[in-house]
Amino acid sequence: MVMRTIVAVFFLLHFRFGVESCSLSYDFYEKSCPQVEDIVKYGLQAMFLTDPTSPAALLRLMFHDCQVQGCDASILVDPGEGSVPTEMASAKNFGIRKRELISILKSMIEAQCPQQVSCADILILAAREAVALTGGPRIQVPLGRRDSSQTLSYELADAVLPPATAGVADMLNLFAEKGMTLAESVAILGAHTLGITHCSNIQNRLYNPNNGELRAMEPSFASFLGLTCPQGLQSSNLSFVLNDPTTFVFDNEYYVNAMGGRGVLKIDAEMALDPQTATVMQRFSINQDDFFQEFSSAFVKLSCSGVLTGKQGVIRKNCNAIN
Ligand code: HEM
Repeated sequence: MVMRTIVAVFFLLHFRFGVESCSLSYDFYEKSCPQVEDIVKYGLQAMFLTDPTSPAALLRLMFHDCQVQGCDASILVDPGEGSVPTEMASAKNFGIRKRELISILKSMIEAQCPQQVSCADILILAAREAVALTGGPRIQVPLGRRDSSQTLSYELADAVLPPATAGVADMLNLFAEKGMTLAESVAILGAHTLGITHCSNIQNRLYNPNNGELRAMEPSFASFLGLTCPQGLQSSNLSFVLNDPTTFVFDNEYYVNAMGGRGVLKIDAEMALDPQTATVMQRFSINQDDFFQEFSSAFVKLSCSGVLTGKQGVIRKNCNAIN
């Protein structure tokens, strides 16, 4: 009896936090814009050829949009008249780039399906393509998000985006709020298989470590980071290191690398040391399919955070401005 109750509670929780709970749909644009997914895919294919660093930028853009009051494309809004600072003014959004690609995709979509597709959905589809077109899984994502109709403050972004110094406990809390399991939380950080980290984001880790995490760094990697990002570097907002050696490929190299003591950010390194997360990191480092599977369900959960649907929000004409 007790066992049955536990199983029932587990399924209830799973259902509540699962994909089904976000009230989006897998065929939302079937009638109004059936070609939307192809427009995003082929549009981005061309853009990624000109700049192979774009997929990383789009994947991070999605996280930073969804983390601040839900996946509502609020991160795309530029300061309007009166120049009220927007989310982008938050220091936590340092390094966020390629917002303009979403606007280009939006124009391509508007030309074929005027006023139908939200910027919020385009952003999620773009992040999905960022993963698929770099060798990762092709994730089916439910659609039907609407865009925020208010400019959000940068203070909110400051408060809810994780700092570069976040550790395992902060990370697990953050993703548990989105209904992610331990394995999914570790998997979503696998997004760090793409892209770069600026030296300014690892200065603390290198020169003011407060948990002794530096000691766990592989010695030649420590020397490499020290040389690339020396203490007091004036251009630490310009110099950067790759997040893993295969920075343009979505693979499980991030886990292999971190388990070998070559995690770049504090969170990357700490996850390889913490007994809870290390077991999962180890699993993903030897089984890429397992990583892809957990990443896909984590991605859908992230993409469902705080979405606006139905009569909530708007479909913006221009992703960078409140209509
Ligand atoms: C606790 C959670 C996280 C922390 C503390 C964190 C922190 C950071 C930091 C500090 C950077 C370096 C930015 C720069 O220097 O330009 C970065 C890069 C990146 N992050 Fe995260 N991150 C987290 C979770 C995520 C998630 C959930 C995703 C995506 C689903 C993600 C995707 C990325 C990507 C793709 C980059 C490379 C960006 C580029 O090359 O422009 N991160 N992250």
